[in-house]
Amino acid sequence: MAASQSLLSLLLFSLLSITVSQSIIRMPSDRKTRNADDDLYCASWRLSVETNNAGYWTNLPSRCGRYVEHYTTGDLYFSDSEVVASDSLAFARTVKIAGDGKDAWVFDIDETLLSNLPYYALHGFGSEPFDDASFDEWVDLAEAPALPASLNLYKELKQLGFTIFLLTGRGEYQRNVTGKNLLFAGYGDWERLILRQTSDRGKSATLYKSQRRLELVNEGYRIHGSSGDQWSDLLGFAVAERSFKLPNPMYYIQ
Ligand SMILES: *[C@@H]1O[C@H](CO)[C@@H](O)[C@H](O)[C@H]1NC(C)=O
Repeated sequence: MAASQSLLSLLLFSLLSITVSQSIIRMPSDRKTRNADDDLYCASWRLSVETNNAGYWTNLPSRCGRYVEHYTTGDLYFSDSEVVASDSLAFARTVKIAGDGKDAWVFDIDETLLSNLPYYALHGFGSEPFDDASFDEWVDLAEAPALPASLNLYKELKQLGFTIFLLTGRGEYQRNVTGKNLLFAGYGDWERLILRQTSDRGKSATLYKSQRRLELVNEGYRIHGSSGDQWSDLLGFAVAERSFKLPNPMYYIQ
């Protein structure tokens, strides 16, 4: 009895000292991963890239690697995506659906409907230069999970009667695995999956996506909403009535 009591006190004492020392001394791993100056700078950097103030950028600033990892693997990324989805839905509910099947919504795929975080977690969260070959291998697995907020939005838009177009920078050769991945992640019943053709080689994403949207407009579709993690999903011509920018501090596509 006495022995177990002193064991308990020892245990409590150790726990207490750990708690006390943690609150006074920052753990070495903590010092390495988080730095108040970097956190402050990187939060401002993120605002700048998300608003497109920064314009074109390639690799993220080296001091922001840990910050982007923390952001994308933590709650904030999901919370930000939820707010984007709820703003999108609030707008979608104001749209009068004519019932002729021409009320459209355009979705991008990567980092919009599907999340490639399992891939980027193994490749520095955007701090490594983009590698086509290894990314294509990942795409071929067709195992990217849905971004949960977008999956819910997608289902709500279907319910409201929108016709859904998927407009992606992925190539035509990836049609099968892309369809397979979308089904695996829970998406279905899209009207058309639009991928880059060989004739689109060399075009900026902004031009390619604008041209495809214009084709839809010429077919009589009314593009009410567009969702994408890149400004090149949303800008250009034949733009949607409202565009919704999802967060992506890992890479920028022109
Ligand atoms: C992919 O190709 C296979 C074999 O041709 C076919 O059975 C399957 O339905 C295709 N999947 C999709 C999503 O298109």
